[in-house]
Amino acid sequence: MIAAHLLSYLFTQRNQDQIQKVDKYLYHLRLSDETLMDISSKFRLEMNKGLRCDNNSIAAVKMLPTYVRSIPDGTENGDFLALDLGGSNFRVLLVKVLSNGKQKVEMENQIYDIPEHLKRGCGSELFDHIADCLSQFLDKMGIKQKKLPLGLTFSFPCQQSKLDESILVAWTKGFKASGVEGKDVVSLLRKAIKKRGDFDVDIVAVVNDTVGTMMTCGYEDHQCEIGLIVGTGTNACYMEEMRNLKMVEGDEGRMCVNMEWGAFGDDGTLEFMRTDFDRELDAGSLNPGHQLFEKMISGLYMGELVRLILVKLARDKLLFQGQITPDLLTTAQFHTSYVSAIEKDKDKEGLASAQTVLRGLGLEPSSEDCLATQKVCQIVSTRAAHLCAATMAAVLQQIKDNRGEEKLRTTIGVDGSVYKSHPHFAKRLSKMVRQLTPGCSVCFLRSEDGSGKGAAMVTAVAYRLAKQHAERQRILDELRLSDEQLLDVKRRMGEEMVQGLAKETHKVASVKMLPTYVRATPDGTESGDFLALDLGGTNFRVLLWGAFGDHGELDDFRTKFDHAVDNTSTHPGIQRYEKMISGMYLGEIVRNVLLEFTAKGLLFRGVPERLNTPGIFETKFLSQIESDRLALRQVRSILKHLGLEETTCDDSILVKEVCSVVSRRAAQLCGAGLAAVMDKIRQNRHLERLRITVGVDGTLYKLHPHFSSIMQETVGKLAPQCEVTLLHSEDGSGKGAALITAVLCRIRDANQLRH
Ligand code: BG6
Ligand code: GLC
Repeated sequence: MIAAHLLSYLFTQRNQDQIQKVDKYLYHLRLSDETLMDISSKFRLEMNKGLRCDNNSIAAVKMLPTYVRSIPDGTENGDFLALDLGGSNFRVLLVKVLSNGKQKVEMENQIYDIPEHLKRGCGSELFDHIADCLSQFLDKMGIKQKKLPLGLTFSFPCQQSKLDESILVAWTKGFKASGVEGKDVVSLLRKAIKKRGDFDVDIVAVVNDTVGTMMTCGYEDHQCEIGLIVGTGTNACYMEEMRNLKMVEGDEGRMCVNMEWGAFGDDGTLEFMRTDFDRELDAGSLNPGHQLFEKMISGLYMGELVRLILVKLARDKLLFQGQITPDLLTTAQFHTSYVSAIEKDKDKEGLASAQTVLRGLGLEPSSEDCLATQKVCQIVSTRAAHLCAATMAAVLQQIKDNRGEEKLRTTIGVDGSVYKSHPHFAKRLSKMVRQLTPGCSVCFLRSEDGSGKGAAMVTAVAYRLAKQHAERQRILDELRLSDEQLLDVKRRMGEEMVQGLAKETHKVASVKMLPTYVRATPDGTESGDFLALDLGGTNFRVLLWGAFGDHGELDDFRTKFDHAVDNTSTHPGIQRYEKMISGMYLGEIVRNVLLEFTAKGLLFRGVPERLNTPGIFETKFLSQIESDRLALRQVRSILKHLGLEETTCDDSILVKEVCSVVSRRAAQLCGAGLAAVMDKIRQNRHLERLRITVGVDGTLYKLHPHFSSIMQETVGKLAPQCEVTLLHSEDGSGKGAALITAVLCRIRDANQLRH
């Protein structure tokens, strides 16, 4: 009995000794919290480097724009095809999106093999094979005759300038097909399909698998704004503020960024923690020097890393009593799935697997060898999980800072064989993320449907948006004036002026051309104190011409929105030109357009009650909304202030577009009228060219960020022979009235002197 105890004690002791030795040996693979924090900060710097366009070409972490900006809103529907290439399986899918009140998706999918020789052979053969699988699938589903929209999940780094163009930067993972790097994969696929000629599809979107995963999970959880893959490769994407994305024009709203974090460290940033095993693994890979972070983490490499460590431990006689077999020396013989099996701790299942795996490699492992192998697996996979946690912590911090929130609540959509099949990876990852980001409350949501569903959703959203965009633009086009139309307005204004000036037609002219008896302008010699009375309001009133259009001259330009504003005004039917231009009415035009949009389901979910209130859009809000300096969130807060709660980013973008179309038309109409006046003066003076200064005042002109420049631009275009300087009156018209008095006094004094 005592002997048995002693034996068991000695056995345990020997086990401990061996484990301790292995542990010590692998010391560099254990990362302290401080090191992880350091890696996290370094990654944050790399993210920001990648986001800046001046640094992007040299940045290791590319932060690629994806042109995915919106998430499904539940109104999408139709049949969509999806291809999912780049993970451990190549899939073709048919996704039916139903919008029957509840969000529902039905899917059919089929896995096809991609032979290894095609992954590393000639690119066109790879795309021919993909087209062939697609053709087989369409046959199987009996839908070959339909031309369906297709979304492609292509899980490699790609430069995108739009949703349906994707230029492969470099192959990663196990692919190296020739003639594809630097090319647009959409064109290559289209070409392969066209060559066959037996079916056609409409390729609408290409997404990375991280993006597809985020969208798949986003369908269930609207808070999902991060996508993570820990599978054959590793990578993540997240929704970034446009203002931080310097490679893409525009600074409003958000766009999903494919970080390609697998390349973190390719510029040497991680040399301080990479081990000799990492270097050896990299040297034997398809793409040495690239994807160094990925090579410490993902499924294509994890087993191999364990194998390299076991070989070294065996060589140093710390394992297998120094025994080394040909299988142990063979690259890729130790699969990552073995790591998962060996780490299972229930009922010593893992140790039994270790024994089976090691025996499968021709070894004769002792129980200590099995325990030590399990330890190696634990150390390698824990480092992988903790490295992912460090970079994820940087992403969460970035989103938190973007939002300026005290506490960030968010969801990460996750997929990949390592995350899903490894018994402890998910737990270790989430535990470390929480440890590194105390200010964040994070939920990890597993994607159960793969990224193909997400790719189909992106395609469905793109389809819906394209339809809605066309509908909105059709409505806004009514308010957009072409150069020819503006010339027409100028011509008609000119005619009205002539009519207004002539005695016989004065009475019937809409433009009254009232004499003011002001006959001279100041020459700078006036002096003395004069009293002025300014009785004007704050509205931009073009006194002489506001009634232009009252006899129907503008009827073909007036929209239903102008009619609505006119009908509800105090004096319907009169001052029609003014009602298309001045600050008092522009807000009302905007409100009427927004009402039309909401009624058609193109804006705000439902019709907010407050939008029915006349006058809510004052000129000053219009001016604020259109300010270039205003971030989208500020536009939202103005809308909120106006009583329009619950608006989305897209709503704000659209409201701003409506404001700018309405105010642009106003400035252009005003410019067209002014051009008519300028040309009249030029002709009166028989001049080839006229240089003239126009004094302008009014709240709209003063406060609106673009009104004056658009007006100036229009005058320049419509009256090219006039060089017009718009001079803003700083002191209002009161000073002008005083100056008129001064001029009159100067003329009167001069006359008196003469007599
Ligand atoms: C799948 C997704 O579920 O996971 C793929 O549909 C993705 O798009 C893959 O590439 C990643 O995991 P793995 O382990 O297959 O590389
Ligand atoms: C590789 C690819 C990347 C992909 C990831 C996960 O890192 O470069 O695009 O997202 O693998 O599949």
